[in-house]
Amino acid sequence: MDGNGRWAARRGLPRIAGHRAGAESVRRVVEAAPGLGIGVLTLYAFSSDNWKRPPEEVAALMELFRRHLLSELDRLRANGVRVEIIGRRDRLPAGLAAAVEAAEAATADGRVLRLRIAVDYSARESIARAARHLAEPTTESLAALLGPPVDLLIRTGGEQRLSDFLLWECAYAELIFSERMWPDFGEQDLRAALREFTGRERRFGALPSAAACGSEPPPVRASLRA
Ligand code: FPP
Repeated sequence: MDGNGRWAARRGLPRIAGHRAGAESVRRVVEAAPGLGIGVLTLYAFSSDNWKRPPEEVAALMELFRRHLLSELDRLRANGVRVEIIGRRDRLPAGLAAAVEAAEAATADGRVLRLRIAVDYSARESIARAARHLAEPTTESLAALLGPPVDLLIRTGGEQRLSDFLLWECAYAELIFSERMWPDFGEQDLRAALREFTGRERRFGALPSAAACGSEPPPVRASLRA
């Protein structure tokens, strides 16, 4: 979800205004996703490296996450969205940690869309934590502790990096880089990315003919990198 800051700066607004506009994009994309065949959507809202930002911006973001989670709760429930926060929780402000728990509990029955929001998230830290839980880590046992494999990763704002996001899960993700600033990103951009994704040949290391013989495509597991 890159580009909030630049979107705001271009309008002579403070960065937090860009984050607020970014929250509107989150709502639009979450509402559009199920209709476009997306079953799992992971949003990178705040990386563990984002703590290096100015304290005022960090505090404003934490408050925005808290308010957004609570104000969207009824709508998320009504739309069958199950919210899941990934990342460390022990460093979150108490108010946000409580909102996270409330949102997860209230939406636990959601079956239409699994919405994963990465907050204080680091892929390397997640992999290390999973490995610490296992006497003998294997590809399979680590995969069971980490998230579902990502089919499509979209990064906005013209950046072309992974920035410690879902490094394990993105082993065979298709990558799409959009010049669009996140607050301007909407359903049409998501549709365009999915069209491009559908046109790509995914071989998973096999030969084209072997990879092509499948049945109906499963729901897409998409990720948007902040
Ligand atoms: C990256 O853009 C964006 C973030 C670090 C924050 C993302 C937060 C939101 C979209 C707010 C709402 C989110 C939820 C889940 C309710 P940037 O600030 O680095 O922008 P820049 O690249 O233009 O500087």
